[in-house]
Amino acid sequence: MCSSIKVLGIESSCDDTSAAIVSHTQGENPEVLSMVVQNQGTLHEQYGGIVPEIAARAHSDRLDRCTIETLNSAQLNLLDLDCIAVTAGPGLIGGVISGVSFAKGLAAGSGLPMVGVNHLAAHALTVRLTHQVDFPFLCLLVSGGHCQFLAVLSPDDFIRLGGTIDDAPGEAFDKTARQLGLSQPGGPVIEKVAISGNPTKYAFPRPLKNQQGCNLSFSGLKTSLLREKEKIISEEGTISKTRMADLCASFQKAVSESLSQKSQVALKIFEETVGQKPTLFAISGGVAANQMIRKDIEDVCWVNEIKFYAPPLEYCTDNGAMIAWVGIEKFRTGNFDGFDLEARSRWPLDTSSSPILGGGKRGAKS
Ligand code: KG4
Ligand code: ZN
Repeated sequence: MCSSIKVLGIESSCDDTSAAIVSHTQGENPEVLSMVVQNQGTLHEQYGGIVPEIAARAHSDRLDRCTIETLNSAQLNLLDLDCIAVTAGPGLIGGVISGVSFAKGLAAGSGLPMVGVNHLAAHALTVRLTHQVDFPFLCLLVSGGHCQFLAVLSPDDFIRLGGTIDDAPGEAFDKTARQLGLSQPGGPVIEKVAISGNPTKYAFPRPLKNQQGCNLSFSGLKTSLLREKEKIISEEGTISKTRMADLCASFQKAVSESLSQKSQVALKIFEETVGQKPTLFAISGGVAANQMIRKDIEDVCWVNEIKFYAPPLEYCTDNGAMIAWVGIEKFRTGNFDGFDLEARSRWPLDTSSSPILGGGKRGAKS
């Protein structure tokens, strides 16, 4: 049997439409043959956030072009592939339905097998696409809708060790940017503005710091930033460039310190729960693109003598390659889906752990 596999990955769960082809030969490093990502930022800009209906329609419009482009760029035809992998949840349901329907059409037309992929699993397993990594490892998944520490035991076995009890860090970056009149998505913009700022200028809270466990909270942070902003405006009449940079730098530092402090705790909890040290600590999801957060967690790993891996930036944010990779992991175990594959807005990775108390809004997705 030929052990080389080529899988098309399709992603449409939020505001990125993406298609990618990943090839893997057993015993060798996987290779991303091509990847197309179309971000919908400009479509949603005027509304100050993602409008689900607009997102779903844009995905349906763009999925076929993204797929043709990625096939052309890899110089492949659909029938050169072995499988089609598609995000089947969790995410904005209209977008997930667009992707799943499109994948079903491709599978029906080509006769290729299809696998539905959990978007969170894809983020958590990305590090196996970009680095040679064995199980079990510890992953901090930090994105616009999620924040959880996961013990990753196999491609479909995850234990949630802790996570946010309210907002996800990406959500906090996005809401804070909105409060400061900065553009979306907030994370990369705040990171850029923060470069010239003083991270110790404002003492924003580190919620749950003194509580046991590795749960986190970010909703209070944006409220204290709002208060600080109002204070500056009442005293100085406006927010100068320097003040803006200081606010962004202090906010980013607060998020980063909260995440790194709880990473230290999560390492201990992993050992108690799994019965051994993790092979490494991986960070993934859009917020993992943040250089300060990467550096602060890398420092925690260095002190604990644990290897630290963070995927290249293009594989941190939503992308088709991570979906294709999970497709390969599932293909190897013959774990295919039929045409009854459902699109799911919610799809927890760890169904045995009870929901985190107070886990709110978009956090319930996790
Ligand atoms: O994983 P992702 O692309 O989509 C979700 O599944 O949520 O993550 C998007 C989130 C957004 O909230 C965005 O502001 C944040 O990731 N983000 C960042 C950075 N780049 C993206 N946050 C902090 N620093 C960054 N450099
Ligand atoms: Zn994501």
